[in-house]
Amino acid sequence: MKASAPGKVILFGEHAVVYSRPAIAVPVTQIHVDVEVLDSPRKGIWIQAPSIDLRAELDSLPDDHPIGSAILKVFSTLRLSSPLGSGQGEGLEISIASTIPVAAGLGSGAAVSVALIRALASHLSSPLSDEQVNSLAFEIEKFHHGTPSGIDNTVITYAKPVYFMKDKPIETFKVGKPFTIVIGDTGIPAPTKESVGAVRRLRMRDQYAIEDIFNEIAQIALIGRRSIESGKPELLGELMDQNHEYLQALTVSSPELDTLVEAARKAGALGAKLSGGGRGGNMIALVDQPKAESVAGALIAAGAKRAIITEIK
Ligand code: MEV
Repeated sequence: MKASAPGKVILFGEHAVVYSRPAIAVPVTQIHVDVEVLDSPRKGIWIQAPSIDLRAELDSLPDDHPIGSAILKVFSTLRLSSPLGSGQGEGLEISIASTIPVAAGLGSGAAVSVALIRALASHLSSPLSDEQVNSLAFEIEKFHHGTPSGIDNTVITYAKPVYFMKDKPIETFKVGKPFTIVIGDTGIPAPTKESVGAVRRLRMRDQYAIEDIFNEIAQIALIGRRSIESGKPELLGELMDQNHEYLQALTVSSPELDTLVEAARKAGALGAKLSGGGRGGNMIALVDQPKAESVAGALIAAGAKRAIITEIK
């Protein structure tokens, strides 16, 4: 059985979303994780994931391994103690292929969980609902990121633009007019746990000022959603610039991210901001479609390890 899951970027609202403000995230379908689960005559559950150099039997993985945890969570949800006897063979062969850069803030971990959970449950003849997949993937995110908001697993599970608020029903929404963004990857691993911790400490020191920033970011996310839905994506550029300033104030930008944001604006982007946890990872720029290639080129020239052009629709 096969299943795929896309990458993602956050358009507006990262960090504030951890404190129950709204955020917007969209799937990035050019990059994806593909998982295949097959019966195998060999005993045991064998996993191969060349993109992270993994070739191992489930039992040999440490208890807190995200792939191992995802597999075990599927079995416990389906109330199966062992996969054996589930199909023709003695065991399972799980192949995980990914084109999503790891630790780049593009959702690679959540995409592996979502595709793996879906493929494995379907292979065991018990396909799970999106809601079930999302909640299992969230448990794995919690295991590994401390206090995640749940936005990554949600946008990746539903593979649609989401207006996300923690502990609220999931809201997907329509894009009134397609628009183009360029993603620039610093190539520096995004230390999400660390940047989320830094914002937490900042808020402990100066709660009122930081809550004010979160409220401003919440407004940006709200106006951003309206602009997207009503077919006025050109308004997003200014909102991105404003959101980036607030993220700088939260100390989660970095010289490399600021350099890429500036380079995109100079090359003619309508606006740009860091995206995701920050202090590494990626940034995004809104562009008029004909300018996409030249903005991507400017990002590479300014030090980006890769640039991805994607249409949001
Ligand atoms: C990470 O992609 C986004 C953050 O807001 C953390 C989270 O929402 O869990 C920084």
